[in-house]
Amino acid sequence: MVVDKTKEPAKKSRERDWATDYDIFAKQYIKDPFPIWDKLRDECPVAHTERWGGSWMPTRYEDLLNIARDIQHFSSRDILVAPGGPPPEEGDDRWDEDADVPEALRDYAPEAPPITSDPPIHTWARKLLLKPFSAKEVAKFEQLTRDNCNKLIDGFIDKGRCDGAVDYAQEIPSYVIASMLGIPRDMTAQFTSWVQNFLELGLTNTDLQAESGREIFTFLFEQIEDHKANPKDDLIDYLLNEKVDGEPVPDTHVLGTCFLILLAGIDTTWSSIGSAFWHLAQHPEDRKRLIEEPELIDMAIEELLRAYSPVTMARYVAEDVDYNGCPMKEGDRLLMNFPAANRDPRKFENPDQVILDRENNPHIAFGVGIHRCAGSNLARMEMKVSIQEFLKRIPDFKLEDPDAVTWAGGQVRGPRKMGLVFSA
Ligand code: HEM
Repeated sequence: MVVDKTKEPAKKSRERDWATDYDIFAKQYIKDPFPIWDKLRDECPVAHTERWGGSWMPTRYEDLLNIARDIQHFSSRDILVAPGGPPPEEGDDRWDEDADVPEALRDYAPEAPPITSDPPIHTWARKLLLKPFSAKEVAKFEQLTRDNCNKLIDGFIDKGRCDGAVDYAQEIPSYVIASMLGIPRDMTAQFTSWVQNFLELGLTNTDLQAESGREIFTFLFEQIEDHKANPKDDLIDYLLNEKVDGEPVPDTHVLGTCFLILLAGIDTTWSSIGSAFWHLAQHPEDRKRLIEEPELIDMAIEELLRAYSPVTMARYVAEDVDYNGCPMKEGDRLLMNFPAANRDPRKFENPDQVILDRENNPHIAFGVGIHRCAGSNLARMEMKVSIQEFLKRIPDFKLEDPDAVTWAGGQVRGPRKMGLVFSA
């Protein structure tokens, strides 16, 4: 029988068994996954589902650490769990014959190094990014981010309300990423829509994912060609001028890395800024502390990242392995549930409580092991600046209607509609 993995299996209206039938796109899971993870951690720490092509899902901190470090069995060649289908093989033709892509990309199998690569390619692909994303380099974009936050606040402060997800959180990362890459900053709406179509809606809609993927790759290809003709001093030029083993970085590699930076740089931080504001809108005591004790900000950001970690990446089982009694087969996929690990009571005291000055906070919101987030300095800077600038001008705000907040689910979780009201 041919199974269409893009269609969700029919489900009767009985209580779901999350241990054997979890669904990362179920409304209940997207809205409030925390009690589900608590139950799984206690009763079935590595859950399994047949949905969306099938996957395993560990929820305990210790298991996440073990699996992230076992790169022999758990490969990064496929980091999205849905809608299924095998990861590309070398030389795969991933475009439809009549797809509208530049001729030079016809034989290119899309990838996003370093996140989709294993060593040895991963090692140099990651090294390339460490310098431009170092704390020192990222600091060069701080003032521009502050100015942009203030411009956004100017746009809504007199109205007494804004959509904290749409009018604020969403706009901040696209502007910084466009500035770093050296691509048009007035295209933030387009970037947001591409990212959403590829990573959020596209996870359950293969056509939409393919179409937005084609559009993003084509756009970045043209931007890279333009940089070659008209060099500027930005991240695309840096990548084009770098050498690996004495040879220039291949153009297709630069393309894949820019694709990753655009996607990883926008969706994730948009979500983490949004969740931070969702929390602050409901906790006046935490807003007050941040205003009265501004030196707390760095610790507070780590705690908000721990409590509302947005990112769950996947792994591809490269060799059959029995992990704690779970018979994982080559080709199976596994969800790296870093967010669930960060609420594990075996690791964190009172994990469901947000304690802005939590002392011992080894959270893994940015992952762990060789793929640990290369953009963490940038993400932290954006979170810090966005919270500081907002609180300076709008110290008192709350959710307009808590029930009307909508969340993106799947592999990146964060608010997508979040009315905030205030008197400035
Ligand atoms: C709060 C915001 C962010 C969170 C929570 C986050 C989270 C993560 C996580 C969990 C991973 C590991 C994935 C895995 O193990 O498969 C990762 C990898 C990565 N992230 Fe982020 N990220 C954020 C922001 C950013 C930003 C702003 C950038 C830069 C543009 C970025 C670039 C990357 C890159 C390049 C990798 C791949 C590293 C590698 O494979 O060696 N991320 N991120």
